[in-house]
Amino acid sequence: MAKKQKNAKAAARKPARKVVKLAAARKTKGKSNGKLKSLPRPSTKPYGQDGKALTGVRILDFTHVQSGPTCTQLLGYMGADVIKVERPGVGDITRTQLRDVKGEDSLYFTMLNGNKRSITIDSKHPQGMRVLNALIKSCDVLVENFAPGALDRMGLTWDHIHKVNPRMIVASVKGFGPGPYEDCKVYENVAQCAGGSASTTGFRDGPPLVTGAQIGDSGTGLHVAWGIVCALYQRMRTGRGQKVLCAMQDGVLNLARVKLRDQQRLKAGPLTEYSQYGEGEPFGEAVPRAGNDSGGGQPGWILKCKGWETDPDAYIYFITQAPVWGEICELIGKPEWKTNPDYATPPARLPRLRQIFATIEEWTKTKTKFEVMDICNRVDIPVGPILSMKEIAEEPSLRATGTVVEVDHPGRGKYLTVGNPVKMSDSLTEVKRSPLLGEHTDEILKELGFKGIEIAEIKNSGALSAPKKEEKAA
Ligand code: COA
Repeated sequence: MAKKQKNAKAAARKPARKVVKLAAARKTKGKSNGKLKSLPRPSTKPYGQDGKALTGVRILDFTHVQSGPTCTQLLGYMGADVIKVERPGVGDITRTQLRDVKGEDSLYFTMLNGNKRSITIDSKHPQGMRVLNALIKSCDVLVENFAPGALDRMGLTWDHIHKVNPRMIVASVKGFGPGPYEDCKVYENVAQCAGGSASTTGFRDGPPLVTGAQIGDSGTGLHVAWGIVCALYQRMRTGRGQKVLCAMQDGVLNLARVKLRDQQRLKAGPLTEYSQYGEGEPFGEAVPRAGNDSGGGQPGWILKCKGWETDPDAYIYFITQAPVWGEICELIGKPEWKTNPDYATPPARLPRLRQIFATIEEWTKTKTKFEVMDICNRVDIPVGPILSMKEIAEEPSLRATGTVVEVDHPGRGKYLTVGNPVKMSDSLTEVKRSPLLGEHTDEILKELGFKGIEIAEIKNSGALSAPKKEEKAA
């Protein structure tokens, strides 16, 4: 046992020593002429032609459903080689969920698994574990979002992974962090409720609401991707991997932090920017739902625009920001409100917000949301048209920037996906279609160094394929 521990420690130290040596060399070289000579020189290649931000980083992607796949797709967009491990014959459950084309991978799957390769491995098969160990040796990061304990039950404990590859970063999404709920399975809306989003979303006379944006799943995937990149950066210094964990509850709370701000402000008195203050409704002990009130302290409301009677999205978000109050009064034909003491200052307006917005709405109803957008932006009044998903899908500027991308898929044909929302000048994103189940199994086995005879042995063992039907029935 002691020897085992000693070996593991030595293994963990080895790369760190290398890093120390490099650092020392850098220091000595730098002293010779006062410059840090050994620091990488700027690339001579033009911007966008020297690989991508995460070129050379290899991800063992053990994720499924949405939160984990969001994370690994983002890493893939940045150039990482993402190897998605899927259960033979089944794959990620979302391949078949919400299917719109019979027998083909669903949009749920294809839109979250671009820029990845797929290998099928039964992780509970000894030969499957052999392949997984080879992957652990050659990858930089393992990302997983299994139910609590599932990775350990496969035999992939932190101790095992760290022993096989001390540089491996092991990133996990779980529903809850350590505590009373840590063993629970969690999906999007559970996280929205547990992270404080639902209790603060909706109108105060209605029930809590979940939002359409997937802040629990995709939001947590984003957080984990950030944690992984930080761990990769730290590994350059320490030479060792680490565990990265983001609980969905924590991810949602991070996105809802302004509501925890307001919870604490309640001690100092009512929240004056909430319309319920202006309407004389008392506050309770917890932050209430604020409807469409703006979170930043400037009153805002969603107002009808021309065509609202038939178009459910003919609305605009209108903010009565104090510095442009004069411009708003001019636009809506109420110049007298600029000097009338009942309207001239933000505090005076608070008890009259309903009437003020009703008056502004009389004006917005005479214009389309895009006309309101044009007119208001000319005088710096912040407004936001309520864009439908149809409008977003058809918006040329989003296509031009690569935020909405059309991809061709051999099974289902063309589909739209969301490209990389982060644009980088020296790491250009090419969006690639999602892989078919096990499409890259052979390619990856060869890359891992398995010879023909070994590949045959592993395949014949059944570790990479679905159990035959008769065997299943037996
Ligand atoms: N080979 C063999 N077995 C595999 C496998 C493979 N390649 N991939 C997965 N499995 C097994 C797991 O080992 C597990 O088996 P076990 O329970 O016997 O140990 C089993 O498949 C099911 O995995 P699990 O993660 O429990 O899936 P689930 O469908 O029951 O639960 C979630 C789904 C999302 C609720 C759950 O994974 C979870 O809570 N994840 C963390 C939070 C999260 O990410 N939620 C949001 C998802 S968008």
